[in-house]
Amino acid sequence: MDAARQIMSDNSMETLSRRSFQPKKIQSFNASFSTLNNRDEYRFIKDTEAERLLPGIINNSVQKIVPKKDLTQAEKEAFSQQRNIGVVFSGGPAPGGHNVIAGLFDELKRHHSDSRLYGFLQGPDGLLEARYIEITKDLVDGYRNMGGFSMIKTGRTKIDSGGKMEKALTTCKALNLDALVVIGGDDSNTNAAFLAQHFKSSGIKVIGVPKTIDGDIQVKSDDGQVLCAISFGFHSAARAFARNISNLANDGSSDVKYWHVCKVMGRVASHLTLESALQTHVNLALIGEELADYLDEDRLAKAAGNTDYNAYGMTLRHLSRVICDIIVRRAAFGKNHGIMIIPEGLLEFINEIQVFIIKLNKIIADYNTRHDLDFHRAFPGLNAKLDYLRRIAQGMIDKGKFPIWNLRDDELFNQLPSFFKEGLLVERDFHGNFQFSQVKTEKIVMDMVKEYLEVLKEQGVYKVGIKRQDYLTLMQASRMDPELYAPALFKNPNDPYLLVKPDIISLKTLKQSLVSAGMLDAEDQTPEVLVAVYRKSEPHFKTQTHFYGYDGRGSDPTNFDCNYTYNLGLTAFHLIAGNATGQMAAIINLEQEFDQWQPIGIPIARLMHLEERKGRLELVIEKSIVDLESNAFKAFKLMRDEWVAANARPDRFRNPGPVLFSGNTEEDRPLMLRLNALSH
Ligand code: FBP
Repeated sequence: MDAARQIMSDNSMETLSRRSFQPKKIQSFNASFSTLNNRDEYRFIKDTEAERLLPGIINNSVQKIVPKKDLTQAEKEAFSQQRNIGVVFSGGPAPGGHNVIAGLFDELKRHHSDSRLYGFLQGPDGLLEARYIEITKDLVDGYRNMGGFSMIKTGRTKIDSGGKMEKALTTCKALNLDALVVIGGDDSNTNAAFLAQHFKSSGIKVIGVPKTIDGDIQVKSDDGQVLCAISFGFHSAARAFARNISNLANDGSSDVKYWHVCKVMGRVASHLTLESALQTHVNLALIGEELADYLDEDRLAKAAGNTDYNAYGMTLRHLSRVICDIIVRRAAFGKNHGIMIIPEGLLEFINEIQVFIIKLNKIIADYNTRHDLDFHRAFPGLNAKLDYLRRIAQGMIDKGKFPIWNLRDDELFNQLPSFFKEGLLVERDFHGNFQFSQVKTEKIVMDMVKEYLEVLKEQGVYKVGIKRQDYLTLMQASRMDPELYAPALFKNPNDPYLLVKPDIISLKTLKQSLVSAGMLDAEDQTPEVLVAVYRKSEPHFKTQTHFYGYDGRGSDPTNFDCNYTYNLGLTAFHLIAGNATGQMAAIINLEQEFDQWQPIGIPIARLMHLEERKGRLELVIEKSIVDLESNAFKAFKLMRDEWVAANARPDRFRNPGPVLFSGNTEEDRPLMLRLNALSH
């Protein structure tokens, strides 16, 4: 039985070797002590609202952590004093979070073995409700280099009121904390800045750590110097998605019958889609940010000097045409299959949908400010919500107010499929973000694609190209002259891939065509082989949809993320030891070799701006979206037509291999970072 138990151990070889893997340490962390150098050459715009609300941290500078040798005894003791630090995960999990804790723990204990690290349970709720555990060596050792946030779990609660701030402060004071480390995304780092401000007079420092698979925390100074090239977890999630997508590409190009439609997480930004596409060379990847930038030149020309606002930005209808064009072009070369990636936040960049999102946010927020029961509790079902909207449109509610929802909106909204209406009305998250992962974006887009493909089929445009050699073989096997029939059947009888003429869209039209070409008498049956040739050209559009999100988010970290996060933990400790607060731990030069990495602190308050959330303007960290001028996007744009592979050559799929934490890996950092680091 013991042997059987050993074979079935919960700990695989992978788990055991991950736990014993020691990430690399940035050179400067090998010194015993450090100091923080203010670097005022990195400049940022100061938001006036941030200046008003965060006066205690708004004047922070970028700080470089540099080793310090010549310390007095008193300075050494101060640096290595016994400390109590609290740590909390906030938001969705991201691979590497456990290593941030491991780095922080190791450094804290290295400087004073009596120092204590407390982990607040289930995210900010643990902080508000004083639910925590002490993080011990045994606990940390069980999670080194492992994915998920399961050690202390996470949550999305926002600490957004004076009352909650006070509760958090009470918990921290009761634990006699010197500092709190918030490991979270843009909204959680926003929270960290407000906590830093609120805690300022208590002397408890607050440090943020840039986490999110979405990759939308990227920090540059005003003159474009990169301070945080990417948040942690992005690389691992993208590699996990890419691995799975590449497996699909293997399957799909073997049984050649499906278009695999992969929706990829990332909230608004398409960074994960872009990286997954660069990793796998799929046939089609949509980058949301590009769609918003789209200009319909034809429409503009037709407007003849007048402004046609519909020419700016892409509509869902137009997008479905773009996708269909690629499907049709591939099919012409016999490839009625392929792989496409759709970012989950795609709809954010489609103007007509964005307008709905903004209007509904405002309506829900207005409702909530005037009623005790909030909108989603008051109208739990879709019909009740729609009734309320209809009453607004008819002027029965909010009489005299600006009609944000008019009869035209109501009519257009009601034309959308129910599941989509439901998706758009889904409750916003704690931070007021639209919950893209709850919307079946891929279904909305693909339903329109399917509809238009039917039109193209009817028009004889969507056809599967037949390899000329296959046609010759079929005809010769039936003792029919291929060259005789080809001009009657195909629009390009001499090409390597033959396309059945557009007016042949059924067996009836096939026969009519043969009769009018004088190759068949009206009373005769169409020869079987010609029926077989026609059948080969008939396109059947079949899809398989996949959602890559939670799986990749729960992946174990790559070697890049193992090292990155461990050093972020060390960085957080050194910022605290240097008395920083309101700073985000970061590492510059991530795009370069490890020996070039340098730990820094970034002033969070300087990254903030006003943004619409739940119908109100709020001060938050600006999310980074895909920069259409970046090398990574330009490289993708340059290559993507080759990856469509609408030609006689094989597909160009790339196999990025599995997520590795050590050993030989070509993928030692995101491809996006490597491309962006190229000089042009
Ligand atoms: P964070 O921004 O908290 O890192 O979460 C990212 C994310 O994984 C998004 O990609 C996705 O849209 C969202 O979380 C899903 O949220 P939930 O976990 O609440 O379903």
